[in-house]
Amino acid sequence: MRILAIETSCDETGAAVVEKEANKPSVTILSNSLATSLALHKTTGGIIPENAAREQVKYILPVIIEALLGSVNQKPSDDFKKDQERCRVVLRDSIDAIAVTYGPGLIGSLLVGVETAKTLAYVFDKPLIPVNHLLAHLYANTIDSEAYQSITFPFIGLIVSGGHTDLLLFTSHDTFQWLGGTRDDAAGEAFDKIGRMLGLSYPAGPEIDKRAKKIVKADLLFKSPLLHSDDLDFSFSGLKTEVMRFVQKQKKLPEEHIDEICHATQKAIVDVLVAKTIKAALEHNAKTIVVGGGVSANSYLREMMNKKVKEKMGDIPVSFPLPKYSTDNGAAIGAYALFHPGPHDIFQVTAQPELYLT
Ligand code: KG4
Ligand code: ZN
Repeated sequence: MRILAIETSCDETGAAVVEKEANKPSVTILSNSLATSLALHKTTGGIIPENAAREQVKYILPVIIEALLGSVNQKPSDDFKKDQERCRVVLRDSIDAIAVTYGPGLIGSLLVGVETAKTLAYVFDKPLIPVNHLLAHLYANTIDSEAYQSITFPFIGLIVSGGHTDLLLFTSHDTFQWLGGTRDDAAGEAFDKIGRMLGLSYPAGPEIDKRAKKIVKADLLFKSPLLHSDDLDFSFSGLKTEVMRFVQKQKKLPEEHIDEICHATQKAIVDVLVAKTIKAALEHNAKTIVVGGGVSANSYLREMMNKKVKEKMGDIPVSFPLPKYSTDNGAAIGAYALFHPGPHDIFQVTAQPELYLT
């Protein structure tokens, strides 16, 4: 099955053509095209939803055209009419279904992708597969991945993105249970908000990751919120306040000091993510741990999750997506759709900004 997948939940416009051969467990990417309005959001220190939606409108067609042509080893030309005809042929002859993120996300951004996908599905008479953006983050692990061979049910899924932090128990591709999540800020949001206090540009997660690596011996520590609580919940807004108070007390903030704060922040966030994931895995006899979402690109999270799971659970596999598929992209949406083809009624598919996992 070959799918054109579209992602427009926030500030990235993604389109990919993906397929899965029956005898192969993992997903193959034929093309993966991505545009981002990040540069614009850096100037405002965060995402203004109206701006993000306008940028989606600008990028959606060029990104889909690039993905469709890329899937047959062609590139867009300067001749719009010629490209239009070539895309029409690809869509008609080699695409079996169209997948699209329908939530959660920013309503204006989601509408651009959902309405484009519905129109293409209707005009070309293809099935439409609505995809939950958060679940797709976990299925990014199935892309071109050796590790995917070893994902077995039941598995614990940890979703750590800019807007969400959730722990799920999967007993099959179609059955999952929400075990816990953040009570306030998401893990990525904590990285971004603390980074902003330190004068780092948006999104701050990747820079905090880089700066933290410079600290060999750490003296500064922040409290890891809810580390020892009896549930599977998270809370990161208190950490933000703790860092803010600490920063306000400093007379100066030299670069080395910023590196130290980045290290302590990252450790406080990662320690609780790892501890609660292992707690969930032990409680539910999980056979695999699967991590996804933008924060799954974090190198310390990757290192500590592997190390601590080995210490506490022995050789159960831990799977992270290839770093380029950790953050938002169309390929992950396609990967999820390949495992959940439907059928779905095209006219029932609507953008759902508040789509929940519970
Ligand atoms: O999943 P994603 O691309 O978008 C959402 O669905 O929200 O996640 C974006 C988040 C941002 O908060 C960003 O700071 C964080 O992922 N992020 C990281 C790293 N790379 C991206 N956080 C920590 N370390 C990283 N290396
Ligand atoms: Zn995301």
